[in-house]
Amino acid sequence: MIAKRIDVLSESLTIAITTLAREMKANGQDVLSFSAGEPDFGTPDVIKNAAIEAIKEGNSTYTAVPGTPEVLKAIQTKLKNENNLKYDVTDIITNVGAKHSLFNIFQVLLNSGDEVIIPAPYWVTYPEIVKYSDGVPVYIETSDESEFKITPKQLKNAITNKTKALVLNTPSNPTGSVYTKEELEGLAEVLKGTDIIVLSDEMYEKILFDGLKFTSVASISDDMFKRTITINGLSKSVAMTGWRFGYMATPMKEITAAVKKLQSQSTSNINAITQKASIPALLGEANNDIEMMRKEFEKRRDIAIEMFNAIEGLSVVKPSGAFYLYVNFKQITNDSVEFCKKLLAEKGVATVPGIGFGAEGYLRFSFATDQKSIIEGINRIEDFVKNYK
Ligand SMILES: Cc1ncc(COP(=O)(O)O)c(C=O)c1O
Repeated sequence: MIAKRIDVLSESLTIAITTLAREMKANGQDVLSFSAGEPDFGTPDVIKNAAIEAIKEGNSTYTAVPGTPEVLKAIQTKLKNENNLKYDVTDIITNVGAKHSLFNIFQVLLNSGDEVIIPAPYWVTYPEIVKYSDGVPVYIETSDESEFKITPKQLKNAITNKTKALVLNTPSNPTGSVYTKEELEGLAEVLKGTDIIVLSDEMYEKILFDGLKFTSVASISDDMFKRTITINGLSKSVAMTGWRFGYMATPMKEITAAVKKLQSQSTSNINAITQKASIPALLGEANNDIEMMRKEFEKRRDIAIEMFNAIEGLSVVKPSGAFYLYVNFKQITNDSVEFCKKLLAEKGVATVPGIGFGAEGYLRFSFATDQKSIIEGINRIEDFVKNYK
């Protein structure tokens, strides 16, 4: 009854574990959840108030498919001021979250058999959308030693005559790795002279630690600007996951025209109220809230890292951004599904098995939850590891 094309998709392990944890909680079990992929803060007031205003003003009709002139201008300003990227407003399209940006892009880019290079561990959604779009994901394995970052040599070796695109996600979900400007320049050098398109997923750009500065890969050089699609949104930076606001920008006119056409026949514009409410966030009016959240994430990271690395059998590379720890338990077992299932069943601690992110022997621990729960959760993990059978 169901179309074949849907068979290529796997269900998200993150959602599966979160659902199981929720059910256990509803049954009265004492569950601590570290599987969330979203900030545990509320959306800043300046955004909420802008939304209320937008409703009162009567923004209840369709807008232009890529977004209103005001929101596109605000994104243009943000990308110019914060990322040193000079796009025309016609290069920018708002989408129903960055997940939708990626979906649209792969749908319009890939022909059957086209390869997309994805560094592993990766955000679970990339390979699924590539497969759904008839493409072939090609993984580059990384490890703790390289802080889960690919090298120019690895990139060079992964390129074939079928390579259509490379996905870069910095800061990374699930590892929190951040590429420096120099590292991005090294990768950019390999791409010179090819027609490979770069999808730069910058969703966690605002959650950076240790005083690091963010570099957009498209800002590296004119060559990179021309071949890159910059993807971002407001889900993580200003705690707006449910509002569904993402965007893409690229000077490649053929791509923006194709995405606008696809979107005009699928979702049309994104929510008009969300568009209005996003403008103050894009123009920096929520910066104090962003800094408050960033600082709190950094504190939690420091607490969690110290506790995890003191547990025999576990190790974690210190993340430079985002709100995840990618915990290595290879000394104990390589089976992440069994490890995480037992951890949930025996200790009521929900985490996400590494296999979903393309690297076995790890789990993803989200610290987008309060400090007390983090401490209690890691204590339970320590107990679990000591008695692991
Ligand atoms: C790396 C990365 N990119 C994109 C997204 C999608 O964000 P949204 O669709 O909420 O904008 C997520 C969400 O988890 C993510 O982790």
